[in-house]
This record gives sequence, structure tokens and C-alpha cells, in this order.
Amino acid sequence: ARLVVLVSGAGTNLQALLDACEDPAFGAEVVAVGADRDGIEGLARAERAGVPTFVAKVKDYPSRDDWDRAFTDLVAAYEPDLVVLAGFMKLVGASYLPVLGRRTVNTHPALSPAFPGMHGPRDALEYGVKITGCTLFVVDDGVDTGAIVAQTAVPVEDDDTVETLHERIKVAERAMLVETVGRMAREGWRVEGRRVRLGG
Ligand code: GRF
Repeated sequence: ARLVVLVSGAGTNLQALLDACEDPAFGAEVVAVGADRDGIEGLARAERAGVPTFVAKVKDYPSRDDWDRAFTDLVAAYEPDLVVLAGFMKLVGASYLPVLGRRTVNTHPALSPAFPGMHGPRDALEYGVKITGCTLFVVDDGVDTGAIVAQTAVPVEDDDTVETLHERIKVAERAMLVETVGRMAREGWRVEGRRVRLGG
């Protein structure tokens, strides 16, 4: 299966997928890595792996909608079977969703529906939950509200900081991503309302 991975930062989730794709049995290849900004480690990881990259910054377009249209075309040009938002910090919009939405998954560092948005680990720590985790979902027009494909629970330790908690979540997140994206790539999936079933 052809994967396009979208990043905005360190790209440790991307790296886990790049490493997994080294095994032909995994059943997928990362055909391109896209970003909304340049100068990030995620793009450097793609370049080191010899994977084509593209960057489209909102500020380089007359409007957010123009960016969304252009970004959709950039991703679609690689004919992805599956697009993975791995630490991608933009909401895909009205141009993107009809074209690529149903084959785009996003990983979020909290147990949806809890703590959507940019600060899942911080919000979980501040709320005082004892269990948080990560969620892989098929994107929809909301913020971290799409149909859930997989989740992993992660304990919160009493002495956790946002950083130590997020690092622990990211360990689980990388494993969840590799396991689930691999199954989606090999077995296919179907979105039925709010349920996602793996297997063709
Ligand atoms: C991940 O935890 C992702 O879920 C969140 O930010 C982190 C990105 O990490 N949105 P990386 O860029 O994959 O290292």
C-alpha cells in the first residue's frame, strides 16, 4: 500500500513507519512525506530515508481555503492508499475531506473523546486522570472527532510532567500506529458510521 505521511514536528511517529516499511511483509511503503512548515526533523528523517517531501505553508497562499486546495492536490498527486497524519498540526478542510478524508487517519495523544486539540497530554495531566493514552481515528470535519480505529491506554504517574507523560504516550503511539497502519495496509478497512472495521 502507498502511504503518504504528514508531519509538523520531530517525526518520531513517521520514523516508526519508515522503519516498519523496511520489512516487505509490512505491506506498505511511504511514497511521500508532506509538511505545513519546513526546517523540521520530520522532513530531515524523510530525506535521510530517500523519501520525496513537499511543504505547503498557509502563509504562502492567499487564503486558508487556497492552502487546503493546494495541499489536497499535493497529497492526491501521490495516489495514496492511506494518508497518516503523524503529528500534523493543521486541520484538513473542505477541499481535502471529500477527496482523501476516508483514507486519512490521525493519531492523537489522548483517549478520544477526552482531551481533543493541541494539548492532549497537558489537559489529561491537569484534569488528573490516572489513565490516558492515544487514539488512531479516521479524520472527519471536527477536531479529533473521527471514527476510532485503535486506542492504547497509558498510565499517568504521580510525578509526571507534560513531557514525561507525552514521551510515555508516544512509545505507545508508535506501536499503535505501526500495528494498525500495517493491518489497514494489508487487510483494508471500512468506515461504517462511527465504526471502522479492518479487513476488506
Ligand atoms: C504525537 O504525540 C502526536 O500525536 C501529537 O504530537 C506528537 C508528534 O510527535 N500530535 P512526532 O512529530 O511524531 O514526534
